[in-house]
Amino acid sequence: MISQPLAMAATLILVVLAQICTSVTSLSEADKITSLPGQPPVKFNQYAGYITVDENQHRALFYYFAEAESEPASKPLVLWLNGGPGCSSVGAGALVEHGPFKPSENALVKNEYSWNREANMLYVESPAGVGFSYSANESFYEFVNDEITARDNLVFLQRWLTRFPEYKSNDFFITGESYAGHYVPQLAQLIVQTKTKFNLKGIAIGNPLLEFNTDLNSRAEFYWSHGLISDSTYKVFSTTCNFSQIWRQYHSETPSVSCAEANKLVTREIGNFVDRYDVTLDVCLSSIDKQAQMLNQLQETANIDVCLEDETSAYLNRKEVQEALHAKLVRVINWSICSEVLRYDNQNLEVPTIPILGELVKSGIQVFVYSGDQDSVVPLTGTRSLVNKLAKELGLNTTVPYRAWFEGRQVAGWTQVYGNILSFATIRGAGHEAPFSQPERSLVLFRSLLHGKPLPDAAPST
Ligand SMILES: *[C@@H]1O[C@H](CO)[C@@H](O)[C@H](O)[C@H]1NC(C)=O
Ligand SMILES: *[C@@H]1O[C@H](CO)[C@@H](O)[C@H](O)[C@H]1NC(C)=O
Ligand SMILES: *[C@@H]1O[C@H](CO)[C@@H](O)[C@H](O)[C@H]1NC(C)=O
Repeated sequence: MISQPLAMAATLILVVLAQICTSVTSLSEADKITSLPGQPPVKFNQYAGYITVDENQHRALFYYFAEAESEPASKPLVLWLNGGPGCSSVGAGALVEHGPFKPSENALVKNEYSWNREANMLYVESPAGVGFSYSANESFYEFVNDEITARDNLVFLQRWLTRFPEYKSNDFFITGESYAGHYVPQLAQLIVQTKTKFNLKGIAIGNPLLEFNTDLNSRAEFYWSHGLISDSTYKVFSTTCNFSQIWRQYHSETPSVSCAEANKLVTREIGNFVDRYDVTLDVCLSSIDKQAQMLNQLQETANIDVCLEDETSAYLNRKEVQEALHAKLVRVINWSICSEVLRYDNQNLEVPTIPILGELVKSGIQVFVYSGDQDSVVPLTGTRSLVNKLAKELGLNTTVPYRAWFEGRQVAGWTQVYGNILSFATIRGAGHEAPFSQPERSLVLFRSLLHGKPLPDAAPST
């Protein structure tokens, strides 16, 4: 027979243990999505909600998490970040590019090439001020920079993993595109520097901003070689003014006569009916007015042809969709694909991130850089030369010589690998948002990243 106090103590321990167990499972349970409006039935779990990154300022980042379609426990965890700066990973990344569903006529249709076939996909609207992410102190929006973004993203990840502890030991990858050429390497670097215990295996960045002058000044040749500008206008760009100058002058409101003239020529010859983020694709006619305003910016707003971004915007602005996602609008009237409140430090655009890629390679982290080859905003030619130069500086020998790669029976692009750790690839027929226009090819590339294997070098034999 056990004594009364001992029995009481035993009961108490049991109660406490039970509480700990339920609180562990219920941490993420509150974020679980029952079903999204108009969604076809699926077998995987979805979650969405907020992670507070600053308690005092009430700053919180919104995420959407789609578990892998099968065997999530054994699949990698992948974080995706869109660029801008200021554009939404949930809107652009998940709903337009590679999430499980795409909006269509007030409903959602299954995306056959969703990246959650291969991995557990975590989409985060970052920094605060983007999409459903917010800061209760609005002054925060007045000055945001790369350093703040990287720090908030790290805090986000640490806390997210406390809510989803079952993913702590999975292989981890950080991916993104465009201005995420800053976010992704900077977050990876912070993880390495702070020795945070993530199982970080690799990063991937698509059409990334890596080095301002090289990236912007490769535009002229791209326009010219694709027939968008004339021989004489091209000559202007190699003699009197270039695109990085135009950008600087435009943002400091001090246009020189020669650059204003050059910009006028380009604008006239290209016109408003070409999507510079995918020069071979048709445009969404109803967003043309918006597109004209967006020219000369790095933002991804303009990149839509079949009006998928407009449909995404309409979908995410529905009350019942926001409720299903556990999302709220704080101090903004509408959800928009790129933030209308955020003022990002323009100086940061000129900070090269290519040296960070070098550091990551030296730490043994796989670095995969890819380019949709129809994008004129961050053209493949600039990116390819930057990666090539980095490989030389690091003393990495070519382990896969420049060659075509295949998806199915067709050439899906070209690739080169250095030292089995630094990879470059183009995606043929893809724009700035590669998985949007080339979903199948992009999925093959994603698989190659996760498995650390070179892209297929031949069509499958029949
Ligand atoms: C709001 O944010 C600004 C900028 O981050 C900061 O300087 C200020 O102290 C904050 N206000 C309060 C009340 O915390
Ligand atoms: C906000 O969204 C609603 C519903 O989609 C739309 O009718 C309205 O015009 C939008 N307002 C702004 C300011 O964009
Ligand atoms: C790269 O190739 C050169 C020439 O073949 C060789 O001397 C060098 O050791 C190689 N470097 C590495 C890191 O394999």
